[in-house]
Amino acid sequence: MADKHAKLELGGQTYDFPVLEGSTGPDVVDIRKLYGLTGAFTFDPGYKSTASCESALTYIDGDEGVLLHRGYPIGQLAEHSSFMEVSYLLLNGELPSKAVLDEFEFTITRHTMLHEQLAQFYRGFRRDAHPMAVMCGVVGALSAFYHDSTDISDPHQRKIASHRLIAKMPTIAAMAYKYSVGQPFIYPDNRLSYTGNFLKMTFGVPAEEYEVIPAVERAMDRIFILHADHEQNASTSTVRLAGSSGANPFACIAAGIACLWGPAHGGANEAALNMLREIGTPDRIGHYIDRAKDKNDPFRLMGFGHRVYKNYDPRATVMQKTVREVFDALNVKDPIFETALRLEEIALSDPYFAEKKLFPNVDFYSGIILSAIGFPTTMFTALFALARTVGWVAQWNEMISDPGQVIGRPRQLYTGPTERDYVPVEQR
Ligand code: CMC
Repeated sequence: MADKHAKLELGGQTYDFPVLEGSTGPDVVDIRKLYGLTGAFTFDPGYKSTASCESALTYIDGDEGVLLHRGYPIGQLAEHSSFMEVSYLLLNGELPSKAVLDEFEFTITRHTMLHEQLAQFYRGFRRDAHPMAVMCGVVGALSAFYHDSTDISDPHQRKIASHRLIAKMPTIAAMAYKYSVGQPFIYPDNRLSYTGNFLKMTFGVPAEEYEVIPAVERAMDRIFILHADHEQNASTSTVRLAGSSGANPFACIAAGIACLWGPAHGGANEAALNMLREIGTPDRIGHYIDRAKDKNDPFRLMGFGHRVYKNYDPRATVMQKTVREVFDALNVKDPIFETALRLEEIALSDPYFAEKKLFPNVDFYSGIILSAIGFPTTMFTALFALARTVGWVAQWNEMISDPGQVIGRPRQLYTGPTERDYVPVEQR
């Protein structure tokens, strides 16, 4: 029995609903019986006030700018952990011992190759296809190649599918890049780390030995950590909704990739860098700030604002630091970084952004780093998808293992015509 209750008055009657408490964060009013008791639905487009599930993976306090994975602050994970360790943590709930981590990395490494026939599948795409279009197609097609891990009622098959998805995503993303530039695919190299391997598959060529630059490998790994999971965001909710019908894991992750692609979500990193390049020099910032504030102009500052964070996105803080590290390691200087820093400064001192609590998000600085490493902007969202796969997979597993899980089926506020008789075409 819940200790707290919420009362609702509707149609002259009072109804009592239990209030559930999480381990931290806001309470939730349990309205599961609302329709049965009252005949009414709640109305919450965009789910701004709706908790769609129970989850023990990730906690965000948007007002304070806090992001925890299984209780560990993102800043500490980005500083001290690795993407493989964070992946294990998200999937299993605890940080692994050294031996367990080694075994996990070994398992993931042994799943990095793609079925050879999938390489031919790429050739069906146009060379100028967006990598996210290719990712959607190829990941969806995995269910046609790995039949032995699509039975979601079997925990072992779910585990294998999870490992396959995390392991194969760098190969799939790197191949999408190679295909777009007309270079041969590079096979995974098991001697390298997860991230080093991805860099080699992306930037290596058969004609030359590829040297992984440790500082770049570390920065890339950190970017993966920062994108690994983010609670019930649009693409994760898409994965959960797709999975709630019992769809296979590869199909569910393909659905997540499709949702991530949009410019309001994962596509913002590409849009943010394009915007910074368009702004160019700091003297042009004022014009773009004015446009962002103009109600009649659809332009928004990309990489700014967040549905949950009403404070500085903690991931943006780490990203900003990582830009400097990558620039130092590669000995590059991109004037766009100065423009970004100045834009942030101007926006944060402007009452419009202060009142609406719009701060830089994870995507504001990530594009500058990825561009310095050598990725074209079209690959940015594909990298986000690569890293977010572990979050999607962990959330999907959590949902399937939840005994209270049912198919997701929202209702609606119907505003269309009421019942009317069909009129034959010659009488219209
Ligand atoms: N530039 C200018 N104005 C903005 C911006 C922005 N980037 N973001 C929000 N606003 C204004 C918006 O016009 C609205 O004003 P008003 O109340 O006068 O109508 C107000 O702020 C609230 O905006 P909203 O769209 O209702 O807020 P939301 O929580 O639904 O949207 C968002 C969040 C991320 C979609 C939005 O801030 C946005 O479009 N940002 C730019 C795209 C972006 O950077 N997305 C990456 C998100 S982080 C990575 C991820 O999780 O995928």
